[in-house]
Amino acid sequence: IFAGRKNSCNINVDIISEITPFNNELTLQMQKTWQAAPVVNGQVITTELDNAKPVSAPYDRRIHVGQVLWSTPAEVTTALDSAAAFFPTWSAVPVAQRAECLDKVADLLEENLAELVALCHKEAGKTIHDSLDEVREAVDFCRYYAMQATENFSVAKNQVRFDGIAQQVTRQGQGVFVCISPWNFPLAIFLGQVAAALVAGNTVIAKPAEQTSLIAARTMELMLEAGLPKEAVHLLPGSGATVGSLLTSDERIAGVVFTGSTETAQVINRTLAKRDTNVATLIAETGGQNTMIVDSTALPEQVVRDVMRSAFASAGQRCSALRVLFVQEDVADRITTLIQGAMQELHVGLPQQHHTDVGPVIDLLAKKKLQAHIDKMRETSKVVGEVTLSDECNFGDFIAPIAFEINSIDQLENEQFGPILHIVRYKAAELNKVISEINATGFGLTMGIHSRNERSYTDIERQIRVGNCYINRDQVGAVVGVQPFGGQGLSGTGPKAGGPHYLYRFTKQVVSV
Ligand code: NAD
Ligand code: ALA
Repeated sequence: IFAGRKNSCNINVDIISEITPFNNELTLQMQKTWQAAPVVNGQVITTELDNAKPVSAPYDRRIHVGQVLWSTPAEVTTALDSAAAFFPTWSAVPVAQRAECLDKVADLLEENLAELVALCHKEAGKTIHDSLDEVREAVDFCRYYAMQATENFSVAKNQVRFDGIAQQVTRQGQGVFVCISPWNFPLAIFLGQVAAALVAGNTVIAKPAEQTSLIAARTMELMLEAGLPKEAVHLLPGSGATVGSLLTSDERIAGVVFTGSTETAQVINRTLAKRDTNVATLIAETGGQNTMIVDSTALPEQVVRDVMRSAFASAGQRCSALRVLFVQEDVADRITTLIQGAMQELHVGLPQQHHTDVGPVIDLLAKKKLQAHIDKMRETSKVVGEVTLSDECNFGDFIAPIAFEINSIDQLENEQFGPILHIVRYKAAELNKVISEINATGFGLTMGIHSRNERSYTDIERQIRVGNCYINRDQVGAVVGVQPFGGQGLSGTGPKAGGPHYLYRFTKQVVSV
């Protein structure tokens, strides 16, 4: 994919465990603390340091990770002024030069791999494996978007009209783009949004998730070190309700790229609609009620392996994660017994241990919401599998993976963003009803199908309304440039991140005759 450019950061945890220098460096980086503050015009604004909020590790709240200073309304205004004023200059910079900056950012991510892994691990509670994946995905986004922009936007495309007259079509940035990102991919999605907006010729104001400002701040340092102009990209840590809504209601912005919950996307959509000036572009990638259908021809062992990864990897905190598993009743007993057994093998614990499968959830609020759902489900539904937490989880925000058998997907109101699996049995004759019920949720992010009957899985695939459908494999971990990722309906507007159409939505088309 990345032919002609450096390879993506192709490192995995099994190799890493053999590399002593990396492990030593990682151990060293784990001792560090970090700081986040607004960065406007390249200046890190720390004047109100007394108001900084402490950041602790999700897996052990006694561990201090750093501090974060949120942005003031005055800083929001200065950033908007600067980004708007600099737009014509940045937009005129040749595409190749903008792409070079992204390649340089990718190089710096690779050079600082150990620190970024330590940071993703400590601030977001990610396992070492997930932290490595996170850096790799961020590198891939930078290199892929750099390549896409160079190939598609560098030179004007000549068109000959039906009347024989030649015209030229160019792609240009739209103006100031606000990038609003979630905590679950605090480096990859944060940087993926910013990289896309910048390389397409927009100036950027980035507002990271409250829970992961330190990762965003370190990435911002690397972006400036890579040579991105200080007026082209600004960082405003802060809450969605204050900083986020000040940004999205401002008349100067041309677009918003948002990844997060469906509810927040709807709030932003309404805010943008209230403005009196330009109609802003909104790219929203949101939540899901992701399902998997398993019929009686499926290979049970493979199903269970893929269910375990889809439902419980990253503590179920992936937008793509499996929430509702539909199993044909002929094989349901066998599959649920295997799931129960596989759950006993899961190690829930401190994410720095290589043998940990499931780490903590992001914070106490998330833990309470998930726990409330579990308590409610226990009253009405049978527990199929459950993991017991060990003492090492005592000081962090952990949720033990659990699986319930329920009667219908209609019993679930919201996306449960954690390691909770719901299982529904269905009769072969009910397959069309199952498909209708899944479509009726309105969400359409990922779906898995396990079947060895080609006619059956192609039929389901044809009827189901989701963005990413995975057949006879797990349904998480879309790879940049390989599986463009994004949903439909309540799950997002498209275009798909990491796909060939993504950058176009950040541009406007100019035709010269
Ligand atoms: P969230 O909606 O709570 O927050 C996302 C971002 O929006 C944060 O930066 C937050 O500060 C900001 N925000 C909140 N209120 C705002 C407002 N009124 N105006 C402007 N900004 C505001 O989501 P989260 O809890 O951070 O992330 C988890 C959610 O993200 C899940 O629903 C998950 O499915 C979804 N997600 C989707 C994808 C995808 O590609 N479809 C990827 C990752 C996460
Ligand atoms: N791209 C992420 C995944 O597929 C969200 O899991």
